Amino acid sequence: MIVPSRILDILPRPVQRQLEAYGDAISVFSEIRDPRVLRALGPSGVRGLLLQRGKQGVPTQMKASHSAHFDWRYPSDMPEMHLLYERAKANQWNGSDLPWHTSVDPLNPEVPVLPSRFVDFDGLRSRGIRFSKEEEQRFLHSLVSWMLSQFLHGEQGALFAAAQVTEAVQFFDGKLYGSTQVMDEGRHVEVFHRYLDEKMGRLYQVNDNLFTIIDSLMTDSRWDMKFLGMQIMVEGLALGAFGTLYQLTQEPLLKQLLRNVIQDEARHVHYGVLALREHVTKELSESERREREDWAFEVALLMRNRFMAFEVYEEWFEGTMTREQWKAFVTEVPGMQLFRQVMFTRLVPNLREIGLLSPRIMPHYERVGLSRYFDGRSADKLSAEDMLKDLDFAA
Ligand SMILES: [Fe+2]
Ligand SMILES: [Fe+2]
Repeated sequence: MIVPSRILDILPRPVQRQLEAYGDAISVFSEIRDPRVLRALGPSGVRGLLLQRGKQGVPTQMKASHSAHFDWRYPSDMPEMHLLYERAKANQWNGSDLPWHTSVDPLNPEVPVLPSRFVDFDGLRSRGIRFSKEEEQRFLHSLVSWMLSQFLHGEQGALFAAAQVTEAVQFFDGKLYGSTQVMDEGRHVEVFHRYLDEKMGRLYQVNDNLFTIIDSLMTDSRWDMKFLGMQIMVEGLALGAFGTLYQLTQEPLLKQLLRNVIQDEARHVHYGVLALREHVTKELSESERREREDWAFEVALLMRNRFMAFEVYEEWFEGTMTREQWKAFVTEVPGMQLFRQVMFTRLVPNLREIGLLSPRIMPHYERVGLSRYFDGRSADKLSAEDMLKDLDFAA
């Protein structure tokens, strides 16, 4: 908190919000210990967290500065990637074929889009907030609409990042594969947008932390940083978030939609592991490898600590609960615990597989309680069916 709360309380609400945004930004920057990581994320953090560019209500321009890599020889340079390309072509699906006729009532507790066990309503009561049953449903509707809106914004980022990566990647089989991912991400934008529009009737603005990560990937000129950021980190975040909602939702259309999307995302992470394993272990110098290792660790922490649904807080609790109280509450709700578990189960083994979990960084992961994920299966050893089976089993 950069201004004492007794002073903050007497300021007009818009000023309070701006100061709180500054406080958030400063706490993000002070959490990042590595100066190279701070330099890489800093400008995006200023645009996302301080200027809140994603919330201006106008389209955002981001300057891309990577090189498009052409190869006029069309080499067959990665057989495993080619197999993935064949699988991606065979497994395309049409978003229009989902059962859109399903009638969805987000306020019906009998068929919950997000069941009440996601949130700890007793915990809210102990903080003096008492909801009627009807308010509980409306609150869950807000929360799930917020989640789906962030999925949609993330998918827009994924669509553009996949297009950039297709241009920039150095393997020709990777370019062919990449073209299928562009189609996949386009379809994900389509289905999440349609679900929000037709079934939820809500769309939240992009979260500032998500904006910051997307901005940093779009504007970094190094293709492997885009890859690491998008195909490993953001895809890991997506699998965590989609997997959690897939496990919990009892609304059949959303369940089917997420099932299809998760199958696509499983291929995307597999692609990231294949491309980066070669590159990190064979092409990068030790100093470059270390920079990426540190960057991945810091971004993993940001993803764990920063998606706090402040937009929902502002709608429901501003004035009755402080941001700090909300943060402490959200961090511990059962749904968020599940999200972190699914995300790190998917993410950490992939970092190991691509050579970014050396004995040098392991103690940092241990310190923040993530060492139990070290030995999990990486994406290249897991089929989409395995991932879904894990989720179905845990449900
Ligand atoms: Fe996607
Ligand atoms: Fe994806």
